[in-house]
Amino acid sequence: MSEASFSAIFREAAPYIHYLRGKVVVLAMSTHVLRAENFSLLAQDIALLNSLGVRVVLVHGIRGFLEKEESLADQYNQGYRITDENMMQSIKQYCGAVRLDIEAALGMGFLHAPAHTVKLSVTSGNFISAKPLGVLNGIDMQLTGQVRKIDTESMKACLDRNQLVLVSPVGHSLGGVTYNLSMPDTAAEIAIALKAAKLLFLTRASGIAGENQQIQLNLSANEAMGHMEKYKQHPDAQRMFPSVLHALRNGVHRVQIIDGTIDGNLLKELFTRRGVGTSLAHITFTNIRPAVARDIPDLLQLIEPMVEKGILLPRTYDDIESHIHEFFVAEYDDLLYGCAALKHFADDEKSAEIACLAVSSSGRGRGYGDLLLERIEEEAKKQDIHRLFALTTQTADWFIERGFQETTPDTLPALRLAQYQDNKRRSKVFIKDLLDD
Ligand code: ARG
Repeated sequence: MSEASFSAIFREAAPYIHYLRGKVVVLAMSTHVLRAENFSLLAQDIALLNSLGVRVVLVHGIRGFLEKEESLADQYNQGYRITDENMMQSIKQYCGAVRLDIEAALGMGFLHAPAHTVKLSVTSGNFISAKPLGVLNGIDMQLTGQVRKIDTESMKACLDRNQLVLVSPVGHSLGGVTYNLSMPDTAAEIAIALKAAKLLFLTRASGIAGENQQIQLNLSANEAMGHMEKYKQHPDAQRMFPSVLHALRNGVHRVQIIDGTIDGNLLKELFTRRGVGTSLAHITFTNIRPAVARDIPDLLQLIEPMVEKGILLPRTYDDIESHIHEFFVAEYDDLLYGCAALKHFADDEKSAEIACLAVSSSGRGRGYGDLLLERIEEEAKKQDIHRLFALTTQTADWFIERGFQETTPDTLPALRLAQYQDNKRRSKVFIKDLLDD
């Protein structure tokens, strides 16, 4: 790797390192990841998170081990395993073995920096109390349970001491019976109870797929539901999805799904802008806000392709800077995808113009243009503006579909008409009466 790319990568990671310090991150890890060849590397990356001050709760699965055992009856009802005594016995044994294996892998420390090795301390315990799932659709689920309560106080106390909390998918009832829990459900309940900043599913699924099996980078809960119905998904993604939704609907900021069997994926997902899997939020993270000075370089980049095509008038840094208070931007997950300006007329305070409406090519088709127009209209009404003009050479249809009507240039306020005649672009002029709405 060149020096330059190292520094670029480090700079890209820095804000995420800063953001995650002190935050709770719940990792939900399926058996296949535990058994993958790269597991010891992943364990080191998890230890690295802990050393950066991230409060890590690791919930492991058990399913893959049970599926291997032919002597165990493999019965499911509504996606939940039916657990009998015999099976519960195996589950306890596997949980013990898996815990030890994870502890050992996490304890390997950082192989590349022996001098700076900090010993990671791992805690597990009776953090989860359970209750039986009972009879579902007439079928007794026996020792399959659900989370009853999470002892957040004890968990937090361990996290405060910089310990990694390791949780198995089992819980005890008040009556002293041990129940088998679903790993994804348990992880989601923990993330909700601890108000985690993130819940990450590490499975064999690379994320949620869209058209042509393309993994989607960012989805809202609603978009994701649509994708689950419409496109074929990896069975792991399918199985985790109800818990993903449950977590999002109950206050977990981000749920991320990545393929945990691939070396480096956890770090790439957490510390790059793009990530590798699917990142989900309850609502889309689109934000329309007034522009500020630091947006100017992005604004210039945004309008440049449209200037080249002759759709927008060229503007310099200084042009935008002196009119920055007129601009609004569409921001998604801290990146700018669109802008629009509300221009006033010195000689007609009841009229204004929506100008410089631009959406980047990567943001097309996501409704940013509509959101920007909506915001501009709202702003104009607030300022008691009655008429909104739009001048365009190529996007007449777009404005007509949104309630604008074509008018003649001489309806423009005098100063703007003079400008119009000067620049010879011969744009079409549209007008929308805001009092009508
Ligand atoms: N690293 C950032 C985060 O953890 C962004 C990740 C984006 N990931 C994605 N799949 N789009 O929040």
